[in-house]
Amino acid sequence: MMLKLFFGLVSAGVVAAAPKGDRHEKDKFNWNSTKSVIAFGDSYTYVQGTLGRTNATYIGDNFNLTFTPAKLFSNRIVLNQTWANQGSAAGGSNWIEYLTQCGVQKGLTDPQTCVKQLWSFAYGGANTISEDGFTPAHWNHTVSFAQQIEQFASYGNPALQSIGLDKSDALVAVWIGINDINDLAKLRGKNESFTPLYEKVQRNVWSNVEKIYRLGYKKYLIMNLPPLDRSPSPAVNASLINTFNNIAASHADAFASRHSDATVLQYDVNTVLNSILDQHDAYGFKNVTKFCPGFNKADIRSDPSKYGCGEGLDTYFWYDSGHLGSRTNQVFAGMLEKWLGRRSWT
Ligand SMILES: *[C@@H]1O[C@H](CO)[C@@H](O)[C@H](O)[C@H]1NC(C)=O
Ligand SMILES: *[C@@H]1O[C@H](CO)[C@@H](O)[C@H](O)[C@H]1NC(C)=O
Ligand SMILES: *[C@@H]1O[C@H](CO)[C@@H](O)[C@H](O)[C@H]1NC(C)=O
Ligand SMILES: *[C@@H]1O[C@H](CO)[C@@H](O)[C@H](O)[C@H]1NC(C)=O
Ligand SMILES: *[C@@H]1O[C@H](CO)[C@@H](O)[C@H](O)[C@H]1NC(C)=O
Ligand SMILES: *[C@@H]1O[C@H](CO)[C@@H](O)[C@H](O)[C@H]1NC(C)=O
Ligand SMILES: *[C@@H]1O[C@H](CO)[C@@H](O)[C@H](O)[C@H]1NC(C)=O
Ligand SMILES: *[C@@H]1O[C@H](CO)[C@@H](O)[C@H](O)[C@H]1NC(C)=O
Repeated sequence: MMLKLFFGLVSAGVVAAAPKGDRHEKDKFNWNSTKSVIAFGDSYTYVQGTLGRTNATYIGDNFNLTFTPAKLFSNRIVLNQTWANQGSAAGGSNWIEYLTQCGVQKGLTDPQTCVKQLWSFAYGGANTISEDGFTPAHWNHTVSFAQQIEQFASYGNPALQSIGLDKSDALVAVWIGINDINDLAKLRGKNESFTPLYEKVQRNVWSNVEKIYRLGYKKYLIMNLPPLDRSPSPAVNASLINTFNNIAASHADAFASRHSDATVLQYDVNTVLNSILDQHDAYGFKNVTKFCPGFNKADIRSDPSKYGCGEGLDTYFWYDSGHLGSRTNQVFAGMLEKWLGRRSWT
């Protein structure tokens, strides 16, 4: 409710001019005509599926990465209080659900009924690559980013092609690196030189994006690291985040220059979220340093004062020690949507 008031106040210094020019029609990004968003990443981006593992995924896990088209299409997005976290790691709908408006209605949503279909293969707890022991998997069921891409190439893409999903109207969203930077900080100690490690993460990220590109997808939305340094229990400081994000941006730029027919939209969500934190009152956030201790209780929304969170979860910027709240996701997804509009070809 209070949300409406604050929308549009800040565009967070993210400058974007609508591209113009001579380009093959099907290569031009246009948010209005985008019919599907295909997402990869970690808990920030995972969407709960009825056939997925609770708190982790839409479909499948590391014990069984395979699925048939029939299984994928019988699956539903869950937004339901009887499920822990109500279907995401944000305690409600998350950014990719708000952006697509797919998975924002209570109950179950069939992605095929959405104007912009959402197909998220992101997995809660995922690192970029775990198979070589560089940053070990959080659990034995975890599906790394690299495995998500393999799973997509083997099962997801063929299934989506079987229902006629048009690659030229699809946007591939990638948000990965949050677990990598936290795990590297914890595993390697304070005095490690992190730059070569972040370079390795990004080489892995982009060799996998390359695999999606080879499947024929040309439009990418890349999110950089959020201000984890301002989270309730940070493992990294702002300078490490900036180093990581600068390395990530240079790899994204290099990918874009290698592939002139690809659109690589780099959203500086770090700057956007820092700006929301700096002006949190204007957005109705009262608590930007801690999380509500009752965040995952079934009655938290109906009785927040029971947990000392009188004004409710929506006034907390952080949902838990490392995740953005659902309303935080909604606020920046609204800004992202406007930004995508400005990045659209006219
Ligand atoms: C994995 O899932 C597929 C379909 O979703 C099923 O046919 C197959 O039997 C499962 N494999 C195992 C080892 O459970
Ligand atoms: C899912 O996450 C919630 C919130 O952290 C937790 O309370 C619940 O036990 C988790 N459920 C499973 C099956 O992991
Ligand atoms: C919540 O999910 C459970 C399990 O799928 C389902 O039985 C129940 O009907 C759902 N509730 C709502 C309000 O959709
Ligand atoms: C996965 O890990 C859990 C918890 O650590 C353990 O109970 C389970 O046996 C493991 N499963 C496999 C197949 O290794
Ligand atoms: C940030 O953390 C790194 C790694 O622990 C450390 O080397 C660096 O001095 C810190 N930077 C600041 C500004 O505190
Ligand atoms: C980091 O290096 C400094 C300077 O050499 C040293 O004093 C400190 O003990 C080291 N810290 C760790 C955690 O290794
Ligand atoms: C933020 O929330 C925590 C946990 O509920 C609480 O302890 C703290 O006092 C709150 N801070 C502010 C500034 O309201
Ligand atoms: C997208 O749709 C909006 C609302 O109808 C319109 O204002 C805008 O000009 C369209 N943008 C493009 C690039 O087609």
